[in-house]
Amino acid sequence: MIPMTLVEVAVVTGGRLVGIPEEQAASVLVDGPVVTDSREAGPGGLYVARVGETADGHDFVDAAAEAGAVAALTTRPVPGRACVLVPDTQDAFARLARAVVDRSLDLAVVGITGSSGKTSTKDLLGTVLATAGPTVAPVGSYNSEVGVPLTVCRVTPETRYLVVEMGARGAGHIAYLAEMAPPRIGVVLNVGTAHVGEFGSREAIARAKSELPAALPAATGVAVLNADDPAVRAMADVTGARVVLVGEAEEAAVRATDVTLDAAGRPRFTLTTPAGPAEVALGLVGRHHVANALAVVAVALELGLALDDVVPALAAARPVSRWRMEVSERSDGVTLVNDAYNANPDSMRAALEALERMGEGRRTWAVLGTMLELGAESDALHAQVGAEVVARGVDELVVVGDAARPLADGARAASGGTRVRIVADADAAEALLRAELRRGDVALFKSSRDAGLRLLGDRLAAPLEEQT
Ligand SMILES: Nc1ncnc2c1ncn2[C@@H]1O[C@H](COP(=O)(O)OP(=O)(O)O)[C@@H](O)[C@H]1O
Ligand SMILES: [Mg+2]
Repeated sequence: MIPMTLVEVAVVTGGRLVGIPEEQAASVLVDGPVVTDSREAGPGGLYVARVGETADGHDFVDAAAEAGAVAALTTRPVPGRACVLVPDTQDAFARLARAVVDRSLDLAVVGITGSSGKTSTKDLLGTVLATAGPTVAPVGSYNSEVGVPLTVCRVTPETRYLVVEMGARGAGHIAYLAEMAPPRIGVVLNVGTAHVGEFGSREAIARAKSELPAALPAATGVAVLNADDPAVRAMADVTGARVVLVGEAEEAAVRATDVTLDAAGRPRFTLTTPAGPAEVALGLVGRHHVANALAVVAVALELGLALDDVVPALAAARPVSRWRMEVSERSDGVTLVNDAYNANPDSMRAALEALERMGEGRRTWAVLGTMLELGAESDALHAQVGAEVVARGVDELVVVGDAARPLADGARAASGGTRVRIVADADAAEALLRAELRRGDVALFKSSRDAGLRLLGDRLAAPLEEQT
């Protein structure tokens, strides 16, 4: 974190210091890791005690202090420990994050939201910006009211760029995140059907995402909006910031044309930008990365990077977070594509397209599980994915778990050459695949997180000698 004294931490969080004399606190510097997990605490750090459903963070204040944390943010005193006492640690944590941003005058903050691709885009942007200056981007999918302040508090005086992934599970969430880490540039990737069950409707999802462009400063802000998604494009009306459209549509200022996938499923395209054209070859797999890359280019150019530096950085970028179109080549010639971190109909479609391309001349497998949180439309959406599997000419469909049965039904109802099988669980899928995968096969693993397919993909990707 940018260094603050313990007294300053108390002031910015609206807290009261206990367990340490005020004079002493004025000379204690918090400049180490700010954590909510005491196992990650370290010298000079601050431990934020959260009260969760299963654990009370106050029980771990001692452990954090022993690991070197100089104080804890708590709602009650802990004997013998320096605490900043606040009414609500979440609220205090948000205030601390905001103070970090406010004190970092040379810091450019970029917020990213959307139904799919936030983490992929955040990773790609983080990689590209890091070529120009010290960059902080979240670990994994840290996009919530806890993940965002944890990320912001990693900012040091050297940091030039802060990339913030902003997730929404309901109205007001993104506005809250944008208040604690106010972005100058905001990216909205798409409005899909992710979490439609919780939101109620696609319109409600669009309203929630539009809180990001709405939060941008009118005078200096830039809203990077996907021109190809009408719901995103319409957000131009809710922002006072300058709008930069990205996409394949003619109106896009940062635009991709002539998109193709190479034999490894990696997109290539012609890029046009206000800074000129370029030929782009991405190092990532899947056509969906084109949209993500366009957003990255738009942000990078706004932040003053040169197109000539951005294009090679895009080509060099590889997956950062796990289980997102992660390709493993086994020594026996089997290719596994593990995209099973999460799934919704849009990302299923993108993954199946990549599978089709990678599988030209090879036998292809789609090992698919349920997509969660799709609400009343769930069965129909699963059936559509099943039909898409057949339309993409996939040879073998293995549907994992009875909850995903509508996917198998949809595939069976479509006409094509796909063999459709349904197995009870990941273990049964593993047995089937171990028996049947052979040299040259390409297998895609995809489902929502809880179906466990990402770990199945890992087990099958392990070096053959480690496989049992
Ligand atoms: N722009 C996009 N459009 C559709 N699907 C995408 C896009 N970018 C990534 N995906 C797919 O969506 C899934 C989730 O990607 P991720 O980057 O983790 O998104 P998020 O952080 O928004 O959940 C992955 O399976 C990925 O392949
Ligand atoms: Mg994410």
